[in-house]
Amino acid sequence: MTEGVGKKMLYLASDHAAFGLKGELEKELDAMGVKYDDLGVHGGGRKADYPEFVGKAASKVSANPKSDRAIVMCGTGMGACIAANKYPHVRAALIYNDGTAALAREHNDANIACFGGREQDGRDVKRWVRIFLQTPFSGDERHVRRIAQIEESERNARR
Ligand code: RB5
Repeated sequence: MTEGVGKKMLYLASDHAAFGLKGELEKELDAMGVKYDDLGVHGGGRKADYPEFVGKAASKVSANPKSDRAIVMCGTGMGACIAANKYPHVRAALIYNDGTAALAREHNDANIACFGGREQDGRDVKRWVRIFLQTPFSGDERHVRRIAQIEESERNARR
């Protein structure tokens, strides 16, 4: 992980549609000296259902939501984001420009970033990942309050 993220774990997961993007990101993270755990899919040759692979990363982050991060990818980023957000304490954000890469962290304290291998340019995604990993949560009272409200909704939905 980067300096800004400390000793936290970073997980990567994608389906077949974002297998190429995942590989591009791995090269970028290697160049940055960021350690990560690739949870698959491990090969672009077969159709891989995104809930399966995204679920592997989301369940890791769900167990350590304050420290761990994941980058999950599918063709559009949308299915990956929907699937990730089913896991308790996960706040997965679909990122689509520099501003949302920063705001997902500053306002939403997002612990998972979602991208689309068929809809987004790899160079953009690499830049957004850097921003996402290096931007801290603002800690502003209004954002802390809203995140607590989301957690409350999650508890109520599980009852
Ligand atoms: C796979 O064809 C595609 O549906 C999937 O990658 C994703 O875009 C779904 O949201």
